[in-house]
Amino acid sequence: MKRAVAGLTVLFVVTLSQATSAADAVHGENLVMEHCTGCHDDSVYTRKERRVTTLGGLQKQVRRCELQLGLKWFDDDINGVVTYLNNQYYKFE
Ligand code: HEC
Repeated sequence: MKRAVAGLTVLFVVTLSQATSAADAVHGENLVMEHCTGCHDDSVYTRKERRVTTLGGLQKQVRRCELQLGLKWFDDDINGVVTYLNNQYYKFE
């Protein structure tokens, strides 16, 4: 019985985290569409000589660009944008 409960808990947590990252990505996409197309389009994310080469680097760059806009995003917003850009373009593990 205990084992079944533990198994269910794991399943629940995994399902929940997948649902969260899908929701994060949608939130991130909306933010990018709304705020991030003024200086560059999405070709910077896929160009050959792109600057961002790690997930941590992507996080820093998103923060840098967000600050240039004078926005005050929460970590959730940054994470959503990072998740979206990573799923869509960078595909870091
Ligand atoms: C004020 C102008 C400006 C805005 C607005 C802006 N960016 Fe940028 N962004 C830049 C510049 C400049 C670069 C660097 C381009 C270069 O190195 O040639 C850059 C590069 C990037 C890169 C790295 C691309 C690579 O080479 O891998 C990412 C990721 C990025 N921006 C995300 C965003 C996001 C997310 C937003 C919205 C919050 C945003 N940017 C809004 C100016 C801007």
